Amino acid sequence: MQTKIEKISPLSAFAINNIHESENSPMDFLSFREKLSLANIGHPQKRKEWKGARLAIKSALDHIQLPYPGFYKDAHGKSHTMDGYGYVSLTHHGDYSGAIFHKEMPVGIDLEKVRDKTVTLAPKYLDTKEMDFLNKDPYMHTMAWSVKETIFKCQGRKGISLRQNILLQPFSCTDEVIKGKIHGTDFADHHYAVKVITENDMILTYTIW
Ligand SMILES: CC(C)(COP(=O)(O)OP(=O)(O)OC[C@H]1O[C@@H](n2cnc3c(N)ncnc32)[C@H](O)[C@@H]1OP(=O)(O)O)[C@@H](O)C(=O)NCCC(=O)NCCS
Repeated sequence: MQTKIEKISPLSAFAINNIHESENSPMDFLSFREKLSLANIGHPQKRKEWKGARLAIKSALDHIQLPYPGFYKDAHGKSHTMDGYGYVSLTHHGDYSGAIFHKEMPVGIDLEKVRDKTVTLAPKYLDTKEMDFLNKDPYMHTMAWSVKETIFKCQGRKGISLRQNILLQPFSCTDEVIKGKIHGTDFADHHYAVKVITENDMILTYTIW
């Protein structure tokens, strides 16, 4: 996947970084608390991913002329702005890290490589209605996985099951927007639209409003 920075609307942008290219970028924009978190990551790949995702948020914010507010994680693992304004979501996969920011609405983002494993794992994250239209195709399954992870990250709470609580409308492999909803929880019937961008064997998905 190419590195990219895109404005989705005046209120929202996303960025994808190659974690090896951004490895030596200055990180002086981080908050004191984030610098401490970074200092505590010993594993080299994890450090690169963590840095890559924060550089991606910085690029996305620069793109819509917003300052970097610093972020903290809640008990579920979801990141929030330190100043309480706006929403963020982060992802990493292989050589890439990504982030999306929206000034007013919750967001989710996910990056996945197309894998055969998504077909064998289907009963763990798909409803039988979804398996029916995915036709055992690894690309379609990876799309479904990524869209569900994106919706999961947008809502943010642990305990939501991809299989039981996130249901996707039927889609085809050429669809660029996939719709889904959360159901069967106290967060019931919340609807989401998720954009899909594919480059080679990588799938990027993010919520749109
Ligand atoms: C948390 C989860 C969404 C992370 O997704 P992933 O594809 O493994 O990893 P990604 O690199 O794309 O995302 C990692 C980022 O997710 C974010 N994240 C973690 N928990 C989160 C939550 N509850 N809500 C929103 N975002 C969360 C973090 O920002 C993390 O990045 P950071 O560590 O740099 O801060 C995933 O592990 C999960 O729990 N999925 C749902 C449960 C499930 O059943 N999955 C498997 C089905 S077979």
